[in-house]
Amino acid sequence: MDKIRITGGLPLNGEIEISGAKNAALPLMAASLLTDQPLEFDRVPDLRDVASLIEILEELGVACAYDAQKKTLKLHAARLSSCLAPYDLVRKMRASILVLGPLVARHGEAKVSLPGGCAIGTRPVDMHIDALRELGAEIELAEGYIHARAPGGLVGAEIHFPKSSVGATENIMMAATLAKGVTVLHNAAREPEIVDLGGCLVKMGAEIEGLGTDKITVRGKSFLRGTAHSVIADRIEAGTFAIAGVMTGGALLLKNAEIGHLGAMIDPFHKAGVDIAEVAGGVSVRRVKDVLRGVDIMTEPYPGFPTDLQAQMMSMLTIATGAGMVTETIFENRFMHVPELLRMGADITVHGSSALVRGVKKLKGADVMATDLRASVSLVLAGLVAEGATSVHRIYHLERGYENIVGKLKAVGAKLEKLKDDGED
Ligand code: UD1
Repeated sequence: MDKIRITGGLPLNGEIEISGAKNAALPLMAASLLTDQPLEFDRVPDLRDVASLIEILEELGVACAYDAQKKTLKLHAARLSSCLAPYDLVRKMRASILVLGPLVARHGEAKVSLPGGCAIGTRPVDMHIDALRELGAEIELAEGYIHARAPGGLVGAEIHFPKSSVGATENIMMAATLAKGVTVLHNAAREPEIVDLGGCLVKMGAEIEGLGTDKITVRGKSFLRGTAHSVIADRIEAGTFAIAGVMTGGALLLKNAEIGHLGAMIDPFHKAGVDIAEVAGGVSVRRVKDVLRGVDIMTEPYPGFPTDLQAQMMSMLTIATGAGMVTETIFENRFMHVPELLRMGADITVHGSSALVRGVKKLKGADVMATDLRASVSLVLAGLVAEGATSVHRIYHLERGYENIVGKLKAVGAKLEKLKDDGED
């Protein structure tokens, strides 16, 4: 397993090109199962999660051709050879569940492993399953698999999601495009990645209204066609680098980033003393004064503050003046970065789903362990401003979601390198 060693204290200045969004690319790839014609995507990031989904799609019989230089991905599901997404592949990534809806819609059957380790626990998939049942699928859960059957095809229905779910909205929206009649998704999620997926489905011939609102209406079609589509910029990557820039006291231009997708950061950034603005070609970000001020944030579904930027924002608050309260409302147990930040000298007290972060003058370099994707990157950010060297171990997670993060940070002045971690299992 690899680690990243960072020497802290250098400001980041210059331009960083933001990659295509992982969370948009994954559902778009799953949409290839809905048509026997080819789909061609560009701006597909070269990430482990993308590679994992390619493996699953290939297993199902989809011809996949990824060009990591050009970031193009061609997918052609002319004929599906299997409806089974096995445990060994699905366990690597929860988003694999996104093949369920499209598969059962087009193939009439799908057998997808429950995503690893989180089936019944903190990240269930009950809303995906319940909604597919409402579309007429018969679903059995046995031996760790979801077995869905709809031999006569799915039938449109009124779906009321009990809470906002990105994945369930995407899965059911895709399934509904091939269902007979009209499906209405109430309490649908509104994330830009869903709008991107919907836009591509419309180009494929789907009839969808209400994208970006909490009520999405889909009029089912008997078939969809192929198309070409460009993946939107990754707002989480952009937000992460924005935070890195201001933590280090530098000024960054985030090329391709969309200010409209970063709306929830604007207010906390302004209160913290950070200037973030749309400029030609992207978004610029820099501190207004020498010091950052503590601010409160609470994660919420879009357009609220994204849970996927919570850990990074907490890293920023560790070095701000004064205190800030971070409240996580989307996922339980998403403070796994806290004990690691404490090892670096941060002052954080967790009370249930809130963490009180009191700023300290300096973080100190340490050996820390990455536990999930966003927790990992928050430790890299902390390392960039810490005194001395920080080694972030188990960077496997980081590589699931950040394309060439070491190269991108080095290019704007950071001192860091990826090393073999021989002391690790
Ligand atoms: C997606 C993102 C992830 C982000 C999350 C929330 C992708 C590939 N991943 O994950 O990066 O952190 O949105 O913005 O896009 N829930 C249920 N039952 C379900 C489904 C979800 O209870 O059937 C709960 C979850 O446990 C969580 C909440 O709903 O508490 C929101 O989760 P959801 O929006 O579904 O997250 P994902 O789609 O898995």
